[in-house]
Amino acid sequence: MLQGKKILLGITGSIAAYKAVMIVRLLIVEGAEVKIILTPSAKEFVSPLTLSTLSKNNILTELAEEHTWANHVMLGRWADVMLIAPLSCNTLSKMAAGLCDNLLLAAYLSATCPVVVAPAMDEDMWLHPSTKRNIQTLISYGNRVIPVSKGELASGLYGEGRMAEPEMIVRFLQENYCRTQEFHGKKILISAGPTQEPIDPVRFISNHSSGKMGIAIAENFYERGADVHLVCGPVKEKVKYNGIQVTNVLTAAEMYEACMSDIASADIAIMAAAVADYTPIEVSSIKIKKQETGFQIELTKTKDILQSIGSVKKDKQVVVGFALETNNEAENAIKKLKEKNADLIILNSMKDAEAGFGKDTNKITIFNKDGTSIAYEAKSKTSVANDIVNYIKRLIDEA
Ligand code: CTP
Repeated sequence: MLQGKKILLGITGSIAAYKAVMIVRLLIVEGAEVKIILTPSAKEFVSPLTLSTLSKNNILTELAEEHTWANHVMLGRWADVMLIAPLSCNTLSKMAAGLCDNLLLAAYLSATCPVVVAPAMDEDMWLHPSTKRNIQTLISYGNRVIPVSKGELASGLYGEGRMAEPEMIVRFLQENYCRTQEFHGKKILISAGPTQEPIDPVRFISNHSSGKMGIAIAENFYERGADVHLVCGPVKEKVKYNGIQVTNVLTAAEMYEACMSDIASADIAIMAAAVADYTPIEVSSIKIKKQETGFQIELTKTKDILQSIGSVKKDKQVVVGFALETNNEAENAIKKLKEKNADLIILNSMKDAEAGFGKDTNKITIFNKDGTSIAYEAKSKTSVANDIVNYIKRLIDEA
């Protein structure tokens, strides 16, 4: 998502400067172009050689070097975002006061792009009233502050003031400055993960779904500007972006309620969850004890969420389902497409080694209600999500 984005990274003199190396690495991996300014004291904490090698750009530190003026004005205009990470207490106070005694401060004062800071300091400094005031001053200038976290500090003490982790900082940039507008104003409802149908307080019926595919689709839509509501069964997988609305559910009945209460306002619904088809009729309130003989649980059918959505589908809504099959794949997928009144069914076959529960890859075929289908190569689930979202985009554009 950061492909081609120009990031001006300012690094100040804080022990957390070592983490800036990882920030640069992550930005480069994501396809960003990175220019780096170090304050004079930051050079004590992190090597310019490491940073220039990773960023593939010269590291800037001085306002002028060998009679050449570093054009701080153009640096601030070149960047899409200026990120200062770590932001030391000293540079924070200078930024708040408008001081300009080094290149980083000069670039900050002349930056026309958004400025994001990730403070890092010991807890006593972080909690000092002057620091709090300076942070508020930066916020009043329109700068964004990535909150510090709690943990072990350079002093050996434990407390608030640790710089946010590099992954979180990069995600903050992606979420706030790199979303495209393709699906701006569109509301997407996605179900993901398994459901758990309780038998007694310690046992349940479930399946191996990891939720990875549904979450990857939710993140892709979100990256493209959509307003995303993810209704998710119990999964280990974390959702990358804070801006995705997540409703956590356990049972098929809870998933049904959460999806049906949101469907009226959704433009696109994608049911990627592996919903239990059956649930115990009675849930014991105490642990069921072992029997001498066999044991039977009476099950009743759950409501089919996709089918219910299909039955109330409005003209302009796009409804997409999944089909995980072990045999007669195409035939079963087409049957589900028709029976559930979906626009598309995405088939994954358990016969494909690259597809299925818990895997990081998937291999899909998309069946369209117009009778066409398209088979894709095996890919990572994030790439598969991209293919699915591209397909839906074409469908909407051509409608
Ligand atoms: N689905 C649903 N609610 C259910 C069962 C399934 O919304 N109670 C949705 C799934 O999220 C998926 C599609 O229906 O999008 C197909 O699910 P799948 O488990 O492949 O098929 P079933 O309809 O359950 O049929 P079968 O188990 O017989 O294959």
